[in-house]
Amino acid sequence: MDKAEIDKLVKRFVKEETLNFLCEERFDFEPTLEEIIKVLRSKRIDILDGLAHVEFEKQFAEWLGCKHAIFVNSGTAALFCALRAKDIGPGDEVIVPPFTFIATASSVLHTNAMPIFADIELKTYNMDPQDAIKKITPKTKAIIPVHLGGMPADLDPLVEVCKEKKIFLLEDACQAHGAKYKGKYVGTIGDAGCFSFFPSKNMTTGEGGMITTNDDKLAEQCRIIRHHGESSWYVFARLGWHLRPTELQAAVGIAQMKAVKLNIKKRQQAWFYLNENLKSVKGVKIPEVPDYAEPTCNWWGALLEYETLGFESAMDMIKVLCRKNVFTKILYPEPLYMTKVFQEGDSFLPFKMPKYEKGLCPNCEELNKRLIGVDTHPFMTKAHCDFIIERFKAVAAGEKLDSGKDEQKPAGLKATSAPKPSKKK
Ligand SMILES: Cc1ncc(COP(=O)(O)O)c(C=O)c1O
Repeated sequence: MDKAEIDKLVKRFVKEETLNFLCEERFDFEPTLEEIIKVLRSKRIDILDGLAHVEFEKQFAEWLGCKHAIFVNSGTAALFCALRAKDIGPGDEVIVPPFTFIATASSVLHTNAMPIFADIELKTYNMDPQDAIKKITPKTKAIIPVHLGGMPADLDPLVEVCKEKKIFLLEDACQAHGAKYKGKYVGTIGDAGCFSFFPSKNMTTGEGGMITTNDDKLAEQCRIIRHHGESSWYVFARLGWHLRPTELQAAVGIAQMKAVKLNIKKRQQAWFYLNENLKSVKGVKIPEVPDYAEPTCNWWGALLEYETLGFESAMDMIKVLCRKNVFTKILYPEPLYMTKVFQEGDSFLPFKMPKYEKGLCPNCEELNKRLIGVDTHPFMTKAHCDFIIERFKAVAAGEKLDSGKDEQKPAGLKATSAPKPSKKK
C-alpha cells in the first residue's frame, strides 16, 4: 500500500468521527434476520437439503475471484479438509509458522502428519519464506503460510518453490478475508486458501469456515470429505468427517457479504490511525506494511521495547493499560512448539513428538515476549482510537497508576478498544 492510500484512509476516518462510544458489538446483525427467516421459512435448514450455502459459496468465490468456495463448519475444519483432500497423512511433513493460532498446526496433527516449524519475519510477523524453504525435505507435502491479523505473508518465493517441488501451498487466510498480495486476494494465490468465520474475524457466520481453490479435483474432494466421504447417494468413497455447517450459518454469511467491504474499510481506518499516531512513541515499534500488501487489519500489533519503556515485561505494561481501560493483549504468548501438546504429544497421535528446544525460531520467541495487540472492529471510532492513543502515550511516558484501584472510565465511554476480550484469534 502506498503512502497516499494510507493518508486517504486516515483522513476519511478523522472526518467520519462519531461520538458514539458504544461499540459493544462487532457486527450489525439486523440485516441478517431477514436472511435467517428466509431459511427457516424454507424449512430446509441443513445443507443437504437447502440452497443458502450454495448462494453463499458462489458470492464468496465471486468476491475473491476464484473458481470454488466450499463452506465448512470452522476454519480448523477448512484446513483439515484441504489437507485430507490432498491425501496428506502419516509420514508426511507440513511446514507451518509457530506464531499463529494453534489450529494452523493442530489441523496438521489431526491428519497424523508432522508439523515442521519455520521462523517468522519480524516486520510482518508472518512466515519467513527463506526459513520455510530451508526446512523442506523429501517428506514435505505442504506449506501453510498464515496471513496474520490480515497482513499478507510474502508468497512469491513459496509459490515458486512449491511449483517446482510439487508441494501443496495452502494459505491460512483465517484472519485475512479481503487482504491482497500484489493486487490479488489472499486465499487464491496458493493451491487453496482457508478462512474462518469466528466472530473475531473480518466476517462471521457465528462459527464456520471456507476453503477456496481453482482446482476442480480438490474442490470435489473437499465436498466429499465435508459430508462423511459420500461421493453419491450412500456411496462412501473415502473416509470423511462431519464438517458441514448449517443453512442458518449460510444465511448469516449471505448477509455478511453485503457488509464485509465496508467493515474491512472501517477496520483499516482504525488500524492506520493507530499506526500513524503511535509511530512516534519511543520504545514502540509499529508494524510495517510491505509494498506488496493491502492488509485487512484484523488486529493491530506493535513490538514493545519494554526495557526502554521502563517495564519488566510487555505483560507489565499491558496490565497498567488494562487498568486504565485500554484492553490490549500479548499475541501469542509462546511459540506453538513450546505448548504442552507439541512438547508432550497426545494419545491420539501414532508417533512421539520431536524434542523441540527453545531457540528453534528466534524471531518468533522475540515476538512472543514483545508483541502487544489491540483488536480492531468496524464500530471503532476515532474517539476510541484517540482514547487508546492518549493512554498508550501516557503509560509509555511513565504514567503509572497511583493506587491499586482501576481508573474510572470517562462518562459515556463504554468500551475502549475491543468490546470484549476474545479468547482466541
Ligand atoms: C490463523 C488461524 N488459523 C485457524 C483458525 C481456526 O479457525 P476456527 O476458529 O474457525 O476453527 C484461526 C481462528 O481462530 C486462526 O486465527
